[in-house]
Amino acid sequence: MPDAPARLQQIRAEAEAAIAAAGSADELERLRVGYLGRKAELTQMLRTIKDLPPDQRGPVGKGGNEAKRALEGLLAQRTSALDAAELDERLRSDAIDVTLPGDPPQRAGHLHLITQTRREIEDVFLGLGFSVVEGPEVEYDYYNFTALNHPPDHPARMLQDTFYVSQRRSPDQRSGGALRRDDVLLRTHTSPVQVRAMERQEPPIYVIVPGKVYRRDHDATHTPMFHQIEGLAIDTDITLADLQGVLLELVRAIFGAEREIRLRPHYFPFTEPSVEVDVSCFRCDGKGYLADGSHCNLCKGSGWIEILGSGMVDPNVLGFVADNGYDPAKVQGFAFGMGIERIAMLRHGVPDLRLFFDNDVRFLEQFGA
Ligand code: DAH
Repeated sequence: MPDAPARLQQIRAEAEAAIAAAGSADELERLRVGYLGRKAELTQMLRTIKDLPPDQRGPVGKGGNEAKRALEGLLAQRTSALDAAELDERLRSDAIDVTLPGDPPQRAGHLHLITQTRREIEDVFLGLGFSVVEGPEVEYDYYNFTALNHPPDHPARMLQDTFYVSQRRSPDQRSGGALRRDDVLLRTHTSPVQVRAMERQEPPIYVIVPGKVYRRDHDATHTPMFHQIEGLAIDTDITLADLQGVLLELVRAIFGAEREIRLRPHYFPFTEPSVEVDVSCFRCDGKGYLADGSHCNLCKGSGWIEILGSGMVDPNVLGFVADNGYDPAKVQGFAFGMGIERIAMLRHGVPDLRLFFDNDVRFLEQFGA
């Protein structure tokens, strides 16, 4: 019979060393099965104590149980030590520096060219001290026409040109032929916000008004909906020279620092005098012909391109808001209105207005900022 107590000491020493050297939870599990499992030598030994010579039974029984408890304790200790080390390691390797900037976001689309152009124009005027205001797209005839000095029979008021929301009755159906103040329509320009802004704010006032406008028109250069930016400046000492300076600033910011402007006499009901404003052609540099001597198509050989309507605000318009401090004898100013699509078309050589609203990404993607 081998010396069981000695063998027991051997197993225990061997197991202790192996457990101490184990480097992973898996390895510890293998050692547990190997030293303490059902088929392990120690387990077998304890199970067969009765077969031992009587003098070995005591030491093997006591020593075996002690060894078993000691190894279980060691395994538990090593397991938790390894778990803690693994956790530490994971925390170290998975650590995130929350102070670092995130991954740059993937670009998902961009602003529409009309929005980009609107914002650029707004920036120019914000830099000049104007503020941006808005008004309703569904508007009263009063603001769209009457308070802007349009006579009752002005052609723009006709059903062929304007979308009416209310049932419009012709002037002669009414007492004295006067139009009712409460006819409702889709505004045909941003100009009605001139009067609305003056009702809201006493002079001085320096505002621009971006927004959608609606007309009964549809071809390559007209869509039923398009965008305008209106401008209005009223103070005690404003002249046409101020208008010219402000618009020069605008065209140089949008079309290039070498641009010049030209004011041409025109007619609008709500300005007096009224002018149309041209910018010197940025393709041929105002010459009307290109470097190779050929005709400049953009300005049609004239050297000038029309960009907006403008003028000094008609005293009759101020008369509608005289109660709010706009006494035509004391204050005066200028107004202007431009089509955003037109500015964008000129600048980017867009041949057809409808492209802006077809939503064809092959067109839109060309203007990714
Ligand atoms: N409202 C005009 C239009 O839609 C443009 C315009 C002309 C606006 C002259 C103005 C102005 O403020 O002074 O055709």
